[in-house]
Amino acid sequence: MQKRKLGTHGPEVSALGLGCMGLSYGYGPATEKQAAITLIRTAFDHGVTFFDTAEAYAQGANEELLGEALEPFRDQVVIATKFGFRDGDVSKGQDSRPERIRAVADAALKRLRTDCIDLFYQHRVDTEVPMEDVAGAVKDLIAAGKVKHFGMSEAGAGSIRRAHAVQPVAALQSEYSLWWREPEKEILPLLEELGIGFVPFSPLGKGFLTGAITESTSFDKTDFRNVVPRFSEENRKANQGLVAVLGGIAAAKQATPAQIALAWLLAQKPWIAPIPGTTKLHRLEENIGGAAIELTAGDLQEIETALSDVTVQGDRYPAHLQARVGR
Ligand SMILES: NC(=O)c1ccc[n+]([C@@H]2O[C@H](COP(=O)([O-])OP(=O)(O)OC[C@H]3O[C@@H](n4cnc5c(N)ncnc54)[C@H](OP(=O)(O)O)[C@@H]3O)[C@@H](O)[C@H]2O)c1
Repeated sequence: MQKRKLGTHGPEVSALGLGCMGLSYGYGPATEKQAAITLIRTAFDHGVTFFDTAEAYAQGANEELLGEALEPFRDQVVIATKFGFRDGDVSKGQDSRPERIRAVADAALKRLRTDCIDLFYQHRVDTEVPMEDVAGAVKDLIAAGKVKHFGMSEAGAGSIRRAHAVQPVAALQSEYSLWWREPEKEILPLLEELGIGFVPFSPLGKGFLTGAITESTSFDKTDFRNVVPRFSEENRKANQGLVAVLGGIAAAKQATPAQIALAWLLAQKPWIAPIPGTTKLHRLEENIGGAAIELTAGDLQEIETALSDVTVQGDRYPAHLQARVGR
């Protein structure tokens, strides 16, 4: 797989990474450990060198999984993890106090079985802690050799500028896909100006853009999508028009909708590296195939035209989670 550099200051990573959250957290029960390790190692065998986790994914369990799976080839991969929730628990809200950032780094290093975190993101901006203090804490961790690069997630333009002035930000990780294009307004131009790479999360629209989710899909009771307005039964039905458009374009390119969704992101900027997640080997291989699809200017225009008739229904987050975004 081709490699990409995440902005001026960032690491070189495979064009597509692997989002590992769903193996432990968010979309129903965790995947059985050996199967999850096999999936992660298969991704590496197919050229994936960029792996995404967070303290908050099952309170460190996802980091432990990556630590074990990646240990045999640790020096050949880029591991990104995140700090910023109280006790590593999303439901408890943000905590980016410098002492907490230092403690999370030390705990993550142990769980990941490594001596350096390649990319350490603030998971959400903490309005109680000045951005300069957060960036300063990560700067100290970089000076101590415990962290290589600083990242932010879902941060707004003002926060990114403040942080970047203290410690250059290598990458921003925020939601971006064919059904969530808000970053195009203000964030992508800012990242281009500052030389910051972009890592789109939920690049497959949490599975919706693949066509595998319909109005009759039922999610496990622990699945996060149960509380996402965009995934209400009514909105899943209303949003099938988007899937139909993608399906048409995919058929013409002899590809799948998931592959087109990923190829479209890769075509936006050379410093974008999406991190699709899956728990299934055959889907992993399908998704990786998306990196080999080149969309021409004509293809991109065709997608734009087809989508101009589609209005996506439903918010991407419930109100209490949206309130944490972009500050
Ligand atoms: N920074 C943040 O706040 C944040 C938030 C969310 C996610 N993330 C990161 O981003 C990564 C990816 O995001 P995501 O997992 O939310 O969403 P995603 O990658 O858009 O979609 C994942 C979902 O799509 C399904 N899927 C994957 N490939 C498929 C295919 N080819 N055909 C049909 N279904 C397919 C998966 O189900 P199966 O497992 O059944 O295949 C899973 O339910 C996460 O793993 C995490 O590392 C970060």
